[in-house]
Amino acid sequence: MPEQSIPSLVQAQFDEFPYPNVPIEQTVTDNSALFANSITTARYLRERKVVDPAGKLMLNAGCGSGWETLVLATANPGAHYIGVDISAESIKMAQQRFQFHQIEDVRFEVMDITDMTSLGEQFDFIACNDVLYLLDDPVAGLRGMRQVLKPDGIIRTNVHSLYQRQFIFHMQDAMELLGVMDEPASKAVPILRELMDALHEGSFVKSHWNGDAIKTTTGILANFLLRSDKGFTVPQVFEMLRQAELEFVSMVNWQQWKLERVLNKPVPYAMRSIKKLSQEELLHFIELIFPNMTRLIDFWCGHPSGATPPQPFSHEEWWNGSVQAHPLLLRLNARAAFENAIRDNGPVNINGWPGAEGNISVDPFSVRWLIEAFGEKPVPVQALVVQAMELMDWTQEEAFNQVLANLKFLEERLVLLLNSPFR
Ligand SMILES: C[S@@+](CC[C@H](N)C(=O)[O-])C[C@H]1O[C@@H](n2cnc3c(N)ncnc32)[C@H](O)[C@@H]1O
Repeated sequence: MPEQSIPSLVQAQFDEFPYPNVPIEQTVTDNSALFANSITTARYLRERKVVDPAGKLMLNAGCGSGWETLVLATANPGAHYIGVDISAESIKMAQQRFQFHQIEDVRFEVMDITDMTSLGEQFDFIACNDVLYLLDDPVAGLRGMRQVLKPDGIIRTNVHSLYQRQFIFHMQDAMELLGVMDEPASKAVPILRELMDALHEGSFVKSHWNGDAIKTTTGILANFLLRSDKGFTVPQVFEMLRQAELEFVSMVNWQQWKLERVLNKPVPYAMRSIKKLSQEELLHFIELIFPNMTRLIDFWCGHPSGATPPQPFSHEEWWNGSVQAHPLLLRLNARAAFENAIRDNGPVNINGWPGAEGNISVDPFSVRWLIEAFGEKPVPVQALVVQAMELMDWTQEEAFNQVLANLKFLEERLVLLLNSPFR
């Protein structure tokens, strides 16, 4: 029998088991996934501008069973969506999913990610989750996406972390030695299960055999038996971006990739050297000292703009601007939480918000002037200041300072977004 090439082995794996195996009828409630795939989140982080998804063209590169495409559609209402994948069986499931949810503005194609110019489209946003590390040449994958990206478009993509996942890679190599990686899933999965169950508890590899999810067929195929899986470091990711002529924008879970989060107390001696590190070096430093932090190096990138990162908003921009809630919070009915808090004279707690590290609490006073920012339309900051003056008997300056402190805290976490008339 002729040896199969890697792409056809990968294709065969996903034809046998389209990924993810989420029931067709399921709706999306995963806020982190919605946040990461929202064009509003990504463009705001890059430019501090509020972009409406309506009418935008979105691509899901390596869409699998269409679950990620449904995330994209839920996160960006009113946009148009195209999904492509090399696995015809996955594309069939994606089509069924969208028929079930009656979303019509979508098209699915069996296509290689390196060859998407034949779509004849240019995209505002490209989502490519859990695909690049499977490719023989991930730079070609990145280039394929860059070719169909509009000048101001943004890509959300990721690769596996070499450090976090090293024991999974060891097990894949061990299965390779036994010839199990080339077997169909029906044969390979029982062999893997038997070995993992028998493995000594002291092995680091065994530490990845915890919890129910990893032991399911889907969990095993997406990890220990994932064909062509590869791991990367931060410098490798930045080098791939340079080769593909793309520019890093931000980590998706940027709140995790912060020194303050990784270190529990100040480190004055080390700080002298840390301060001299470039962005790339600092991220690498963090992955070296906290290798198990995250499975994915998950990031947004775009065409090189040559622009410096956006400056913080000035006082004048705040005073003349208008604020609105992140659209995802409106979907979660945040306004009702504010109305209930006013009725009960209590705070508003926003738990598990992806833009924040930890939970957010808005005190019972601030709730009363901030509520207007959680409506359908942007509200002028000055209107919130007037509201605060009336409620608290403050001077305009006192009210502005208090409102500004609230707004800055919430804006830094992308709970609220500022429309500045000067940008
Ligand atoms: C782990 S799944 C991820 C699916 C989806 N992106 C998600 O996050 O739910 C990887 C997908 O990438 C697809 N894929 C692998 N190589 C590809 C290529 N060269 N071009 C297009 N799709 C590819 C596979 O068929 C599979 O559906």
